[in-house]
Amino acid sequence: MVAPHPLIHRPRRLRRTEALRRLVKETELTVNDLIYPVFVMEGENIKQEIPSMPQCYRYSLDLLLKELQDVVNLGIKAIALFPLIADEKKDNQGTESYNPNGLVQRTVKAIKQEIPQLIVITDVALDPYSPYGHDGIVENGQILNDETVEVLVKMALSHAEAGADLVAPSDMMDGRIGAIRRALDVEGWINVGILAYSAKYASAYYGPFRDALASAPKFGDKQTYQMDIANSREAIKEIALDIEEGADLLMIKPALAYLDIIRRVRDYTHLPVVAYNVSGEYAMIKAAGQQGWIDEKKVILETLTSMKRAGADLILTYFAKEVALMLHH
Ligand code: PBG
Repeated sequence: MVAPHPLIHRPRRLRRTEALRRLVKETELTVNDLIYPVFVMEGENIKQEIPSMPQCYRYSLDLLLKELQDVVNLGIKAIALFPLIADEKKDNQGTESYNPNGLVQRTVKAIKQEIPQLIVITDVALDPYSPYGHDGIVENGQILNDETVEVLVKMALSHAEAGADLVAPSDMMDGRIGAIRRALDVEGWINVGILAYSAKYASAYYGPFRDALASAPKFGDKQTYQMDIANSREAIKEIALDIEEGADLLMIKPALAYLDIIRRVRDYTHLPVVAYNVSGEYAMIKAAGQQGWIDEKKVILETLTSMKRAGADLILTYFAKEVALMLHH
């Protein structure tokens, strides 16, 4: 036996047993941190798997309600709702987006009737409603800002009327948080909150989501409104504006390739920070898992823990159900 080295600090002391490791754990993922994104479509008795997002489905409203009962039973507190809009309902002005009897509005009402305790977050953006797949009104190949904000305001109000707890503008038009906040207040929806997609990057990680909603841009890309992937200070500028304009929660999107942004925003603000673990991040893990190339469950937990460690309070993730199940065992 070698004589003990005269080491004062032995960090391994605290890693010796599972109990000690738990005692000094700094970050813990819980079911309260999870927001589950769900896709809804017209029809009855429909459950369609999204090819690039294994185990994620588009549901008709009847089956979605059943699915959400499971989600609630797992302890998940919130969902983010995304609609698949039929082509014939799409127009450049996004008219269908604020139809009081539209798919989102009917879905929110039904959820709030059957499962009132479930927090419903609605997406406010034109892309699922636009024949061009862009997040705004198109004119001569340009995306119009202020005209689009007017439509976003109508959409947000119709979501509030339907019973949404939080509206989540994901479009990146300038000034939309302030415009939506003012309109909600004027109409008496003072308790409807805003989850702002504040730092949303023009990312290639959204591909599978655009498959799910058939919402890929028909021309060009989204670089004139979503952020340049190379920028960090600009995220703080967007965050500062959204705080000033009245955001209640701030989102960073995507998450995995932007952990530095999550940390920077966490250090900058006292508001809750949400990380969007987007479709491409989900697809990569699922694909490698299906091949048996990684231990999928462990990689999921490691990935989501890294987002919390970086400073996220909440994680919007297609893994929410799986993770909730893992945490219960
Ligand atoms: C559109 C929107 C997108 C996502 C959420 N809302 C796609 C886009 O900006 O093109 C992507 C989410 C994901 O990839 O999981 N407003």
